Amino acid sequence: MSEKTRWSKTTIIFGGIATWGLLLVGCVMVDRTVLVPPNIAGATYVGSKQCEQCHEENTKHFGDATHAKLALKDNKNVDIGCESCHGPGSLHVKVGGSRATMVNPRKSPEACFQCHLDKRGEFSLPNSHPVLSGKVSCVDCHNVHEGDAVKGTGASMDSQNDTCTKCHSAQKGPFVFEHGAMKEGCTACHNPHGSVNQRMLVARDANLCLRCHLEAPSVAGAGQINANAVLHTPENHNSRLMQGTCWSAGCHEAPHGSNANNHVRR
Ligand code: HEC
Ligand code: HEC
Ligand code: HEC
Ligand code: HEC
Ligand code: HEC
Ligand code: HEC
Ligand code: HEC
Repeated sequence: MSEKTRWSKTTIIFGGIATWGLLLVGCVMVDRTVLVPPNIAGATYVGSKQCEQCHEENTKHFGDATHAKLALKDNKNVDIGCESCHGPGSLHVKVGGSRATMVNPRKSPEACFQCHLDKRGEFSLPNSHPVLSGKVSCVDCHNVHEGDAVKGTGASMDSQNDTCTKCHSAQKGPFVFEHGAMKEGCTACHNPHGSVNQRMLVARDANLCLRCHLEAPSVAGAGQINANAVLHTPENHNSRLMQGTCWSAGCHEAPHGSNANNHVRR
């Protein structure tokens, strides 16, 4: 459901501050200013090639990683793909590698926030994954060294859900009565980062469900909600919809699927 982000060109550099050239978001061209990579006092960029000698594991599939496509070049035209997240590597390389001389974003999301500033806000919302407190990390859901940065996007939606159900096994199923919505992925109903709504839901009320279960207004009369046609039930929902959410007490309390009832009730 989210806007797919695309990009066309890489980078222009102004004295160390990087600006991503023409990024295509949906159909609109935007200029996005990206903040500088993490800073390491006294260090300069050496380029990703240098990292290969000692970190084959992390480098060998990097070519097809989302962030490699966006690889920055510094003003000496060195490709600083790796260093865009780990900070400049000269000191690290000089001492033959040590933990203290590189930034590791597993320990803190700050390195990611350098460029994805809006994400700090999402993770500060009252209902959000505990990333700021370190209980969950960006890399639990995102690839950094290979492939698409959003894990499990690809052939099947099942694999996208796997990213979530490795921690949330109760929602995994299989259920005797599956809810068709699960094929659209967990993000059909949840914002994976955080939300103002409880349970990180994308909507707080019946609209969560009516986005899919809504008949064209022309059939039911101007703008009137008539969920019945989509739900294929003779039950009139218009009065029920005023009583609360679709998933509150006595109604569709099993939005992920049910083992007892074919209308996602318990
Ligand atoms: C998009 C940001 C990003 C980029 C680009 C990136 N890394 Fe990483 N790197 C991470 C994160 C996050 C971790 C922590 C991963 C974890 O703990 O699973 C990490 C961990 C590491 C580690 C620690 C050992 C390990 O695997 O846990 C090494 C070494 C490393 N990266 C090297 C590299 C090299 C070499 C490149 C370039 C080919 C690179 N990284 C590019 C984000 C990035
Ligand atoms: C001469 C070998 C060598 C080179 C070149 C090298 N590293 Fe390392 N790197 C190491 C060693 C050794 C460690 C420490 C491993 C340990 O202590 O477990 C390390 C650790 C790391 C870590 C983990 C830091 C942490 O806090 O966990 C990252 C990230 C990393 N390197 C990234 C890079 C990047 C990016 C480059 C290229 C700019 C690079 N390294 C170049 C040898 C090297
Ligand atoms: C040096 C800047 C920079 C850093 C640091 C950085 N990113 Fe990105 N990342 C980008 C850019 C640029 C894009 C693509 C354009 C956009 O943001 O819409 C992107 C895209 C992404 C995407 C979206 C991929 C898609 O298919 O839509 C994810 C997920 C992501 N980054 C996660 C991370 C994580 C996690 C970290 C930290 C480990 C991180 N990034 C660090 C610059 C960065
Ligand atoms: C609980 C899993 C999870 C965690 C933790 C997580 N993300 Fe995401 N993120 C996702 C999913 C799933 C998507 C794809 C959303 C979609 O397709 O609707 C996404 C999308 C993105 C995107 C691209 C679309 C957008 O919203 O801009 C960026 C950038 C991103 N994440 C960055 C981050 C960063 C940075 C962190 C850590 C600070 C992080 N994410 C932590 C699951 C997660
Ligand atoms: C690394 C483990 C991990 C992954 C992966 C993960 N989560 Fe979570 N999730 C958590 C933790 C920890 C909490 C906070 C639990 C708490 O506060 O009781 C949480 C909370 C939630 C909540 C709120 C639960 C509540 O009771 O309020 C929802 C909804 C949720 N996650 C959905 C998702 C979705 C959707 C994905 C995949 C995009 C996902 N999670 C991936 C660990 C994870
Ligand atoms: C059709 C919409 C929908 C989809 C798709 C969906 N959820 Fe939910 N989820 C909900 C609703 C509604 C609630 C709130 C239930 C409540 O408060 O009683 C919820 C609650 C949760 C909770 C809190 C615990 C609970 O069960 O009440 C977690 C964790 C969660 N969902 C994870 C997931 C994961 C993981 C996926 C994908 C595998 C997913 N959800 C897909 C609608 C959905
Ligand atoms: C992403 C789209 C989507 C969302 C959001 C969604 N659903 Fe569904 N729902 C479906 C699909 C697809 C089916 C299967 C329809 C079919 O088989 O004819 C379905 C089936 C159902 C059924 C069974 C209907 C029947 O007669 O078999 C109920 C009840 C239901 N959904 C309730 C809900 C509730 C309650 C919510 C909100 C918590 C919700 N749905 C959100 C897509 C969605």
